[in-house]
Order: sequence, then C-alpha cells, then structure tokens
Amino acid sequence: MDSHSFYSQLLEIRPLQSGACRVVSLANQKGGVGKTTTAVNLGAALAQRGHRVLVVDADPQANATTGLGLERGARPSLYDVLAGSAPLRAAVRGTAIPGLDVVPSSGDLAGAEVELGSAEAREFRLARVLGRDVAGYRWVLIDCPPSLGLLTVNALVAAADLVVPVQCEYYALEGLGALLATAERIRRSLNPALRIAGFLLTMYDARTKLAGQVGAEVRSHFGSLVFRTVVPRSVRLSEAPSFGEPVLSLDPSSRGAISYRLLAAEFERRYGVDEPAAETPSRGPGGRGYGTIAPEPAGLVQAWPPKEPWGAREVRG
Ligand SMILES: Nc1ncnc2c1ncn2[C@@H]1O[C@H](COP(=O)(O)OP(=O)(O)OP(=O)(O)O)[C@@H](O)[C@H]1O
Ligand SMILES: [Mg+2]
Repeated sequence: MDSHSFYSQLLEIRPLQSGACRVVSLANQKGGVGKTTTAVNLGAALAQRGHRVLVVDADPQANATTGLGLERGARPSLYDVLAGSAPLRAAVRGTAIPGLDVVPSSGDLAGAEVELGSAEAREFRLARVLGRDVAGYRWVLIDCPPSLGLLTVNALVAAADLVVPVQCEYYALEGLGALLATAERIRRSLNPALRIAGFLLTMYDARTKLAGQVGAEVRSHFGSLVFRTVVPRSVRLSEAPSFGEPVLSLDPSSRGAISYRLLAAEFERRYGVDEPAAETPSRGPGGRGYGTIAPEPAGLVQAWPPKEPWGAREVRG
C-alpha cells in the first residue's frame, strides 16, 4: 500500500460538467465504518444544497433503505431491478428530503450474488441498469455491503468514483490494501473510468489519542485524497437510523449534521461544482459550513411525529 504508483491511475478525479451525473460508490469491505451513514447523510446534505441525489442501496442489510424511512422489504427493490423483473424507475422512491431519492434493497439481494454468479456479464448488471436511467440526478451514491463480493464489484464497475470511509480506530488501515487492489483490478479490466474521490475519516473521537494517530497515518498514506472534513463520533448520528431519517433533518444543529454539511461543500468543490442546481429546496441562510442551519424539509413533522425516547436530559452528540 505504500506504493503510490500502484494505484496512481486511480487518483485523478475529473470535474463534473454542468448538468452531468456522477455515480459514486461508498465501499470498504470492513464492516461498520460509516458507509451507510455517509450515503444517507452526504446524500441528504447534497440534496439540501439543491442537488438531485439518488442513493442506491446495494447491501442486503438494507440499512440505507430503512435509514431513509422506507420499510425493509419495499418492492420493487434493487434485487428486482438486477434480476430484470422491474425497471430502475419503478424501484426509485422519494424520501422526506426534497431532491433525495432511494432505490431500496431487500434481503434477497444476498441471493443475487449467487444467482448472478453464473450469469453472463454478471459484473456489469448494475452499470447497465443505472446507465439507462439516472439522467436528472447530480450524484448517485451506491452504498456497498461489507465485502468485496459481486455486489461491491458491480458497484465499482458502475461507478466513476470511489469514496472510502475509514473508521478512526485501531486496524483502520487493515484491508484498505485489498480494497485498493480490487479497485485497481477493476479499473484495469472492467471499468477504466474508476477513480478514488476520497478517503473519509469517520467516528473521530477527539478525546482519544488513537483517533488522532489513525487520522495522521491515513493522511500520511493518502495525502490530499483524504477529505479535510472529519466526521466526529456522534450519538445523534447513531440514533438517527432508528427514526428512519438522516441526522441532517433529525437534528440539523448536531455535530454530525454539521460535519456532513461541511463534507457536502467539500465534495462539491472536489468536483468543481460550486453552484447548486437552480431550484434550491432548502439552503441554509448562512452559506456553507458552521453556522449553517438548514431549514427543516417540508412535511417532516407529519412524516415522523417527534418522539423523545431519550428523555429531556439527553446530551447532544
Ligand atoms: N460518526 C458516527 N458516530 C457515531 N456512530 C456512528 C457514526 N457513523 C456511524 N455510526 C454508527 O456506527 C454503526 C455503523 O455505521 P454504518 O452502518 O454507517 O457503517 P457501514 O460501514 O455501513 O456498516 P456495514 O459494513 O455493516 O454496512 C451504525 O450503528 C451507525 O449508526
Ligand atoms: Mg452499511
């Protein structure tokens, strides 16, 4: 992994032309590093900044699906689309965040790994179904399962860019070599367009020395490829999925929400996209970054009556 030359072909991300769509996969075969949390909240933050975003849940665990308020088992799902029994359009669902749509997953997607195993051009299934039908979105964010199996390979073949969430814990770098080797193999053989859009440090706990050390190590390996925005460990981020909504709408002023808004701004800059699309559903009054409180999306209260399972004394994380 020390050899930059090995994956140097993966490095240069290309700016996004106006009106174009970019498919980005969030992948790391290590489990629980923040792939889904990032797909949901970066998606919501970009949508709140005025972009149309589609989250594709490619994980049979369906955490992005439920995290965006859809019931587990929503049909048609990505499984039906990959199996050829439903068009992508039929599987696209709206969410309570204007501009943010999702293609739900279902448990039987796990079977797709096996069923596609013998199919012709099995690595290109997702690329083909997306290729036909994502016009109108600015970004398509594919939430990958924690493996380097066929679903992740499909996601990397379908994507132009790869975002790698890295948890600020011991062994954070473990497995990144295998992930990058897989990405490089896919770039050479199946998808020459594949690039790394960035590494994202997640679950950063400023109180621990370890988080700082891991952050420094990841930056020393990957330099400017690491997003400057760091996602802190935040209780609110981990609670949001139980409400079926992004923390961006659940608690817009929490540290987790602020960090994903900062990431969205950095993401736009990385793609050379400065101005959100003309119709801005909900842009905060203060511009970017800290101090930006995105207005609550319309219809939120009706969609999710407020619940307070933690009592009045809860500490915002
Ligand atoms: N910054 C954070 N602070 C606190 N908890 C977090 C943070 N990010 C994610 N979590 C929580 O950690 C757990 C794992 O996060 P997440 O589901 O996003 O990871 P993942 O990489 O998608 O996992 P998997 O590999 O199982 O798909 C979840 O319970 C999530 O709510
Ligand atoms: Mg996940």
